[in-house]
Amino acid sequence: MLGSFHPVIVHLPIGFLLLAILFQWIGRRASYAHLRLSVPVILVLGMISALLACLTGLAISGSADYPEELLGWHQWMGIGTTLLSLGMFWAVQRKEARMTNLFSVLLLAGVTVTGHLGGSLTHGEDFLSFGKAEAKPALGPIADIQSAHAYNDLVQPIFEARCVSCHGSGKQKGKLRLDQPDFILNGGEDGVVVKAGDAENSELIKRLLLPGDAKKHMPPIREAQLTDTEISFLHWWVRAGLGFKQLVKDLPQSAEDRAVLNALQQQSQAVGEEGEPAGATGRPGLSGTKAGAGAGVKPVFTLKNAVPSETVKAADPAIIDRLKVNGAVVLPVNASSNYLSVNFVTVGKQVPDSLLELLADIREQLIWLKLDEVELTSAGYAAIGKLDKLTRLQISRANLSDETIGALSGLKNLQWLNIAGSNVSIEGLRKLSSLSGLQQLFLYKGSLNSADWSALQQLFPKVQIDTGNYRLPLLPGDTSLVK
Ligand code: HEC
Repeated sequence: MLGSFHPVIVHLPIGFLLLAILFQWIGRRASYAHLRLSVPVILVLGMISALLACLTGLAISGSADYPEELLGWHQWMGIGTTLLSLGMFWAVQRKEARMTNLFSVLLLAGVTVTGHLGGSLTHGEDFLSFGKAEAKPALGPIADIQSAHAYNDLVQPIFEARCVSCHGSGKQKGKLRLDQPDFILNGGEDGVVVKAGDAENSELIKRLLLPGDAKKHMPPIREAQLTDTEISFLHWWVRAGLGFKQLVKDLPQSAEDRAVLNALQQQSQAVGEEGEPAGATGRPGLSGTKAGAGAGVKPVFTLKNAVPSETVKAADPAIIDRLKVNGAVVLPVNASSNYLSVNFVTVGKQVPDSLLELLADIREQLIWLKLDEVELTSAGYAAIGKLDKLTRLQISRANLSDETIGALSGLKNLQWLNIAGSNVSIEGLRKLSSLSGLQQLFLYKGSLNSADWSALQQLFPKVQIDTGNYRLPLLPGDTSLVK
């Protein structure tokens, strides 16, 4: 993709333009006057590469979840700097000494500020991999998780895939090794990292649960992340007493823990089936992608009750087939129930009303629904509004509006709602205040401004609201979180 060249290309205009400014300045000394001869050529190279940097930058800007305000500044400063290089070139050609000086000073400032903003955007030095820090399932297909060996088959492969590169025999960051049970129990420079039975106070689990951009979050933000399900699994494994020798089925587990374990099995099988990790396809609820559904929110709690405990009969296979024929991805949410998730990602922008109305026939089974970047009619929204078994719903970057959002107010089982990137105002959101079971609400990149946040907080006092890159829960009394 074009955008992926941005991180490489940006270094060219920085180099050329700084060199041009340098030569221009030291060329004032008679003994270095010859350097000035090369300034126009270097400036032209700087302009061309700056233009390329702008184009590749624009291409990459839509592809990841960057902090919007910072991105805006970086973008405009980048374009401004490119124009300034044009200005300096003009002044140099015209031999306008004062203008040249003025432009060179402005250009120096432009390059410095743009570069700094770009650096901040990428959280430091590594441009290339930022934004790619996605959750990728670490485990290969597991046939029956209950008979798997908890440590050898599950814990160790996760650590191996995500941690051992920095915490193994090669490197021991934080003086911690995670490649063998005794090392794990030894802990790191700050002492013990896992306490049997006490996940909440285990440093290792705490770090996994920290928001992705927190300094102590593990793995560091630019590395491939654990999926929510894997984190929930490790949380259980610590709570269940750090079984290094037992099979999964021999360790204590509640109904919720079993749901987590089933989800892990499901996720591991999805890797094999789809040829692509579940995290990347953004299956509602199971993925922990940074760009996807619910990045950085306490995963253990997101799984709670997401699958109803009542049993349900299997959905009519004919309906499922019709949905599949029309491009919808229909999957069981776990291996132990008939509950379904439906994902419309491959259907396209205009999802026909008739297709959405078909969902009524699997209303009993359908608990997770995902539609992204769709343009639905009000009849389409109304059809979704009738799916009252839904616990999770994602309609992000869609044409949801203050009028159509009312259709969702009857989704009484909804716990998790992602309407990120919608043009919905606080008035529209008021229509959702009847959703009493709502636990998490994702609104980032929408049309709300900071003045709306305290109203929002009052509207949904018990809901953890995800504001995207800030990724902070709205705590009671905390109104300072959005600049
Ligand atoms: C890219 C390298 C890298 C990867 C991958 C990584 N870590 Fe770390 N980890 C560090 C660094 C650097 C430190 C020390 C600085 C700090 O405390 O944050 C650290 C510290 C820690 C500590 C604190 C140790 C102590 O006693 O101070 C824990 C716990 C930890 N990591 C867990 C993990 C886990 C679990 C994973 C995998 C899911 C992981 N890390 C993956 C680099 C990494």
